Amino acid sequence: MREENGLRVVIEATAEEAASCVARGVADAIRANPRLVLGVATGRTMEPVYASLAGLYREAGLALREVRAFNLDEYVGAARDDPWSFHRFILEHLAEPTDLPASAVHAPDGAAQDVFAEAARYEQAIVAAGGIDLQLLGLGRNGHVGFNEPGSSLGSSTRVKALSRATLEANREDLPADRTELPEAAITVGLGTILRTRACLLLAVGAAKSAAVAAMVEGPVTSRVPASVLQHHPNATVVIDRAAAGGLADRDYYESAERLQRRLEGRG
Ligand code: GLP
Repeated sequence: MREENGLRVVIEATAEEAASCVARGVADAIRANPRLVLGVATGRTMEPVYASLAGLYREAGLALREVRAFNLDEYVGAARDDPWSFHRFILEHLAEPTDLPASAVHAPDGAAQDVFAEAARYEQAIVAAGGIDLQLLGLGRNGHVGFNEPGSSLGSSTRVKALSRATLEANREDLPADRTELPEAAITVGLGTILRTRACLLLAVGAAKSAAVAAMVEGPVTSRVPASVLQHHPNATVVIDRAAAGGLADRDYYESAERLQRRLEGRG
């Protein structure tokens, strides 16, 4: 991955290819640094990325035993082993199918008595680990990253954030059907925390994300579209499929720039 070049847009033909591209990026980073501090995201978009990493572990000798993983966010009220917790999601999709130890998966404790103190503790835990080397990100339809909802401060650290109605509706189907009450808040790393990561890889697929992708890549940097803060990140790559690229005005340019980049890197 190139350094210090700002937002890079990679358009793959299909959602599967986009997820494999992200998994390859993570695998390359782990091979280069087996003790990688990896920021991990949840959501349906990420499932094939983790499945692909599990395949590389089984079939290509990718070793995750020294990796340390830090979740982006957690629902307030979710205990580590609750089936709907994001902590559980990463254990199930990344730790259990690989040699990543469960003890190396860190997440904010959504069941903490004092969630505000827990948010501060979590930010410190990331700092104590040496900071995030590579941050994986998904994208909310309303432009959120982590649970940094529209209106989030662009310099924010890990904190408690109220969830928007749009996010609750979008995530409703991922919560157990017998849960009558939706979580109202989450502990999320902040946009400032994300800006402090050494590299970011964001994956978004499908037409439902195309408006958020266009606003993030081509719109103004604004707290209304929290993901747009990545325009200020020195090493952020956005990987999308053709459907998610549908709203980009300069799509041809990103495709030719990427071809040139790969040629210069000797990869095509
Ligand atoms: C949640 C998570 C985000 C995730 C987003 C998109 O709100 N907090 O980290 O990126 O959903 O999820 P999906 O990939 O299921 O569309």
